Amino acid sequence: MADLTERGMKRRIEAFFDELAPTWDHKVAAPYAPRLAEMLDELGIATGDAVLDVGAGTGVLAGLLVDRVGPTGRIVAADLSRGMLREGRALRRNDRIVWVQADVLETPFPASVFDWVLCYSVFPHFLDQQHAVKRFASLLKPGGSLAVLHSQSREAINEHHKKVGDVVGGHILPDDDGMTRLLRNAGLELLRLENAEDGFIALARRPASAG
Ligand SMILES: C[S@@+](CC[C@H](N)C(=O)[O-])C[C@H]1O[C@@H](n2cnc3c(N)ncnc32)[C@H](O)[C@@H]1O
Repeated sequence: MADLTERGMKRRIEAFFDELAPTWDHKVAAPYAPRLAEMLDELGIATGDAVLDVGAGTGVLAGLLVDRVGPTGRIVAADLSRGMLREGRALRRNDRIVWVQADVLETPFPASVFDWVLCYSVFPHFLDQQHAVKRFASLLKPGGSLAVLHSQSREAINEHHKKVGDVVGGHILPDDDGMTRLLRNAGLELLRLENAEDGFIALARRPASAG
């Protein structure tokens, strides 16, 4: 019988992405890289920034961050899936990227260390999305930002997961009200919430005065 505990579900998510890992980068991630690069240009990530790439997969986002953060910046690329990380390390070996096999919702990263927490194509997979956002808020420096990014619309993402079924069948990106609530409940200021055919972005900032 399927293990429906949280731990069991996470193991299934890990196994699901492990299986996709060998073809993920060229089949799924790379075709959307140009659109992702455009979205990053709008965020204004700066030289020296410390960035957490949540659910980094094979590191398509991490790879695009290397030049943006420059030699003084740091990128932590974290993922549950060992298979994805293996591919990522092989494809994008770079001193500025630290690859971490971890459940980002449980791993004890130090608090208030990141200028950016970026969730690219991963948010629907969090089993407890409110817990996830609160956790990311705690990892941000005061004034730091969380961005939830997709290079397709919310409707396309949700429809895709439904069609794929399996362990991701019910994984959804919340509607505007739901996303706004998740961000505000975590003490973040909502800066942008946009859903278009060529991408979704929710951008929120930890107030600079946060303790
Ligand atoms: C759809 S893939 C996206 C990968 C990458 N961001 C990209 O766009 O190519 C989602 C990734 O998130 C990872 N993931 C899901 N839940 C996670 C969690 N709680 N902690 C770390 N990684 C997670 C999966 O293992 C998978 O590699």
